[in-house]
Amino acid sequence: MLKNNDQENLRILFVDDEEGVLRSLQRLFIDEDFEIFTASSGKAGLDILKSNNIAVIVSDQRMPEMSGAEFLEKAGKLAPDSVRIVLTGYADINAAMDAINKGGAYRYITKPWNDNDLIITVLNAAERFKLIKENRYLTELTKKQNEELKKWSSELEIYVQKQTIELTNQNKELKRLNEKLRKDFNDFIFAFFNIIELRNKVLHSHSSNVANIASVMAGKMGLKSSEIETITIAAMLHDIGMIGLPDIVLLKNFDELTADETDEYLKHPVRGQAAIDPIEDLREAGGLIRHHHERHNGKGFPDKLKGQAIPVGSRIIGIADKFDRLITLSHETHNVDSALQKVHSLSGTQFDPDLYKFLNEAAREQAGAVAQTSDTVQVELSPKDLMPGLVVARDLRSGTGLLLLSKGIVLNKKNIDTIRRSYHLDPSKTGVFVWTKRQMQKT
Ligand SMILES: [Fe+2]
Ligand SMILES: [Fe+2]
Repeated sequence: MLKNNDQENLRILFVDDEEGVLRSLQRLFIDEDFEIFTASSGKAGLDILKSNNIAVIVSDQRMPEMSGAEFLEKAGKLAPDSVRIVLTGYADINAAMDAINKGGAYRYITKPWNDNDLIITVLNAAERFKLIKENRYLTELTKKQNEELKKWSSELEIYVQKQTIELTNQNKELKRLNEKLRKDFNDFIFAFFNIIELRNKVLHSHSSNVANIASVMAGKMGLKSSEIETITIAAMLHDIGMIGLPDIVLLKNFDELTADETDEYLKHPVRGQAAIDPIEDLREAGGLIRHHHERHNGKGFPDKLKGQAIPVGSRIIGIADKFDRLITLSHETHNVDSALQKVHSLSGTQFDPDLYKFLNEAAREQAGAVAQTSDTVQVELSPKDLMPGLVVARDLRSGTGLLLLSKGIVLNKKNIDTIRRSYHLDPSKTGVFVWTKRQMQKT
C-alpha cells in the first residue's frame, strides 16, 4: 500500500500539559502497532514534528502558552498530511470547532474520553493518514508517468518528423537516381543503336523504321506501356546480330545468298540475343529479338515456333520488319500500298493474321496517308519553310552523313527544330524532301 513507511510502525504524537494524561494515553495504546511520541506543550510538540514523520496528532485544547487550536494550526503547516485530533472538555465545544476550522482537525474528542472511542478514532485517523499518503503517492506517480508520457510523446513526434523528413529526402534521392538510371539506360540503348549506323546506314534506317511501326502497332493493340517499351527497344536492336556479317551478306537479298551465306544469315537472331544478354534489363528484349524471324506456320527460324507460341512482341517486329524491308531494302520498288498488299498475302502463313490490321494502320500513319500516291509529289524545301504535318519523302542526312530523319517520318515542331539546328552546325547538301499534294505545288 504505502510505499515508504509501510514497513515501519506509524507514529502518533500526544500533546498535553498534564503528565498523567500523557501516561494514560501511552498506556492505552501500548498494545497497538504505533510508535508513540509525547509532548507536554505545543512548542515541544512542534519540535518533535520538525524531525519526525507523525501520522496522527492528538492534542489537548486547554494548555498554557499555546492552545490546542493554535498548536494544531502550526502543526498543519509543518506536517500537512498528519491527521489531527483535539481533546477538549464539554465546556469547550466552541474551542474544539475552532481547532477543526483553523487547525484543520479531523475530529474532536471530549474529555473524559471513552477508551474504546478514542482507540477507534485514532485507528481511523491512522487509516486516513495511510490513504492520504497512498493517494499522494499515486497522484505523484500518475503525474510523473504523465510527464514521462508527454516527454516520450513529444520525443516520438520529433523522431517521427525527423524520420519523415529523412524518408522524404531519401525518396527524392532515390527518384533522382532512378531517373538518372533510366536516362542512362536510354542513352545507352541509343549509343548501342548508333553503332548499327557505323556498320551500315541502311540497316540503321531499317531498324529505326521497324521500331517506329512496331511501337505504334503495340500501342494500337492496347499493350501495357512497359511492353511497348520493350518491343520498341527490341525492334531498334532486332538486327544487331547482323553487325558481324560480311558486307556481301548485308547487301544481298535473302534469295541471292549462297548456302554458306544463308547459314550465317540464319544465325543473326540468336547472335543478336547473345550480344545483349549480359545486360539484365535487355534480356526480355533479347527474347523478342531471338524470335523475330519465326513464322506463324512454324517454318521460321531459329526455333520453328508456331502461332501464339511466338511472343507477341516478336510477331509484331516480324511483320513490321517485312513491311519495311519491302520499302527500304527490297530491290523491287514498293510503295506503302504495294508493300502492305504483299504482307497481307503472307498473313496466316508467315505472319499472325490478327496483326495485319494494326500494321496497316501504323504503316499508313507513319508514312502519312498522302505519301507515294498518284496525286502527291516530292518537293525540296529549305529548313525555314518546313511545317508540322509534312511527311519526309527521302532520308535526310547531315553534311557529314549522319541520319537526321528517315523517310516517312511526319514532321513536328521538335524534329523541325532539330533539323534547323543541324543545318547550322553540319549543313546537308540538299534541302528537305517532303511529300505534298500536286495542287499544293501549283499554288
Ligand atoms: Fe532480322
Ligand atoms: Fe530486319
